[in-house]
Amino acid sequence: MDNPKHVAIIMDGNGRWAAQKGLPRIAGHSAGAKSVEEVIKAAKESGVRILTLYAFSTENWKRPKHEVDALFKLLENYIDSQTDILIKNDIRLSVIGRIEGLPDSVRRKLKSVMDRTKSGSSLLLNLALNYGARTEIVDAVRAVAKDCVSGHVNPDDMDEKAFSGYLYTKDLPDPDLLIRTSGEMRLSNFLLWQLSYSEIFISKKLWPDFKKSDFVEALDEYRNRQRRYGK
Ligand code: IPE
Ligand code: IPE
Ligand code: MG
Repeated sequence: MDNPKHVAIIMDGNGRWAAQKGLPRIAGHSAGAKSVEEVIKAAKESGVRILTLYAFSTENWKRPKHEVDALFKLLENYIDSQTDILIKNDIRLSVIGRIEGLPDSVRRKLKSVMDRTKSGSSLLLNLALNYGARTEIVDAVRAVAKDCVSGHVNPDDMDEKAFSGYLYTKDLPDPDLLIRTSGEMRLSNFLLWQLSYSEIFISKKLWPDFKKSDFVEALDEYRNRQRRYGK
């Protein structure tokens, strides 16, 4: 089989990585940002076209405020330091999630980087921010209901393809491969609809330790999988 076109990653284990080193959790998040840079490069080199990274879930607001604040500060710094590099590497940045729920300064920066990278065509870097799959599905159902009430949509025409068009991922193919680090075997409310038939690769490595060779290993394993889709 060919390399996956769309890879989605649940980047997990930053806190445990820091704890193992006797460092504050945020040091783990900083170290994780380096893995993000490395994996973006590896994805591009492998011909992956879309990389969706789970960066902040709708449930992550339940973390202590200082950790949440630090995560968004880190995201802002990441955008500031990487925008020119993304442009140079022909990478486009996009976002899925309830963007309106993000802090204003983060939204402004995201809007600007999305604008400045919009002609990037080698890789789509898709950040899941304030993302929750159940929220996404509820938002979609609400939009469908409105379109039915207003007469734009006939309920009998609603099928899987039409419904997909109401999700944040409406312009994207489903992920071929899902990677989760730190050995956890759960989806944590990530892309519940879109991952229906994705191959799953669980790495024992904590996210800050997940490097190019680990990404390449996941792709190697993917190519040896047999996708059956129930056939
Ligand atoms: C993933 O690492 C990063 C985010 C969820 C933002 P964690 O912060 O979940 O690290 P662990 O799972 O506590 O080790
Ligand atoms: C999932 O990791 C969310 C992100 C990677 C952004 P969590 O660490 O929040 O998930 P749980 O709490 O282990 O399920
Ligand atoms: Mg975690």
